[in-house]
Amino acid sequence: MQALTYHGAKDVRVENVPDPKIANDDDILLRVTATAICGSDLHLYRGKIPECYPGDILGHEFMGIVEETGPKVTAVQRGDRVVVPFVIACGDCFFCQRQVYAACETTNTGAGAAMNAKHASPPAALFGYSHLYGGISGGQAEYVRVPRANVGPLKIESSLPDERVLFLSDILPTGYQAAVNAEIVPGSSVAIFGAGPVGMMSAACARLLGAEKVFMVDHHDYRLEFARQTWGVIPINFDECEDPAEQIVSLTHGRGADASIEAVGFEAKGSAVETALTAVKLEGSSGKAIRQAMAATRRGGVVSVPGVYSGFIHAFLFGDAFDKGLSLKLGQTHVQKVMPELLGFIEEGRLQPDVIISHRMKLADAAEGYAMFNEKRDSCRKIVLTP
Ligand SMILES: NC(=O)c1ccc[n+]([C@@H]2O[C@H](COP(=O)([O-])OP(=O)(O)OC[C@H]3O[C@@H](n4cnc5c(N)ncnc54)[C@H](O)[C@@H]3O)[C@@H](O)[C@H]2O)c1
Ligand SMILES: [Zn+2]
Ligand SMILES: [Zn+2]
Repeated sequence: MQALTYHGAKDVRVENVPDPKIANDDDILLRVTATAICGSDLHLYRGKIPECYPGDILGHEFMGIVEETGPKVTAVQRGDRVVVPFVIACGDCFFCQRQVYAACETTNTGAGAAMNAKHASPPAALFGYSHLYGGISGGQAEYVRVPRANVGPLKIESSLPDERVLFLSDILPTGYQAAVNAEIVPGSSVAIFGAGPVGMMSAACARLLGAEKVFMVDHHDYRLEFARQTWGVIPINFDECEDPAEQIVSLTHGRGADASIEAVGFEAKGSAVETALTAVKLEGSSGKAIRQAMAATRRGGVVSVPGVYSGFIHAFLFGDAFDKGLSLKLGQTHVQKVMPELLGFIEEGRLQPDVIISHRMKLADAAEGYAMFNEKRDSCRKIVLTP
């Protein structure tokens, strides 16, 4: 079959690889009908995530038709159309029982990324996301093996097109969890950093929960303008505005927004020093966006962080978080917990996540898709690939 494989920084290729096979009794084999490229894939693409090896198949946002089921699969049947969450969870461990699926302590044979984990278990395995997260082959492929198929895949029984439900695999639950963590209620103000797919899904979900004033910070005008037209955000371009957080504070009665959502992550632009230090591994993450998010949030407010971080940040103003009484909520998304609820919102027409799709390409052209999405070429917002 054809699959998108990793070969090093900025080197991904679509090549012929062996077909996957059922390995465990609760696996399914899925024929992929649609898959997307995520901002998280860009961290891999830029060579920033350790323990990725040549030939690893990427892709964690995908859906398709169940082709074959292991003998212990009861939740789905051959022929079902399903969306698969990017988090692989067992459903019965300590964490899964609490619906903290991204912390599932039984699925990941890798080490995770925490630097001071002691003997605590690593977080859940993820599709196509390095051997730190289990080295599980991803879904930017014609076929994919889906482990723990009784816990993850969500059946789509309506006639909704693939594109409308595909983002239930990751970015829609991620935007929703970010907005729920931000404790948004009718009338809230929220500052969203990053106008990529995750920032946009956060804006959609913030509106769904009743946010009144939504600021959005980025430096790509085409993304900001799309979000302004679609969700009525107040755009702030950080190439033009020296200090977006200062502007947000002054536009919120000198207090700051009730919450911020940081949808940028550890490769945030804007601090030349941190960018240089992270390149030589003297800094774990660029702290530009998280500092801005904390500064833009009012006392007693919440800083919600779906953006991916790694390691340490020297200039992380923990004292500011204390002085302002901020709450921080972060981490990978517990996708399984919110998928059914979000499917309901899509069916009711309250969410239409596919509006962000800007490019539709063949899986065979996925390498070009990665380059385009990475370079923000051709006003790229989100790419969907079909095998
Ligand atoms: N928590 C989760 O489970 C989860 C799930 C999906 C994605 N993510 C993460 O969310 C982040 C965003 O993903 P995406 O798909 O939207 O990616 P993306 O790369 O398309 O978007 C990121 C945006 O941030 C902007 N940006 C860069 N520096 C900035 C700064 N200093 N201030 C404001 N904006 C800045 C970029 O211009 C870009 O538009 C990534 O780190 C990704 O790994 C996390
Ligand atoms: Zn993703
Ligand atoms: Zn579990």
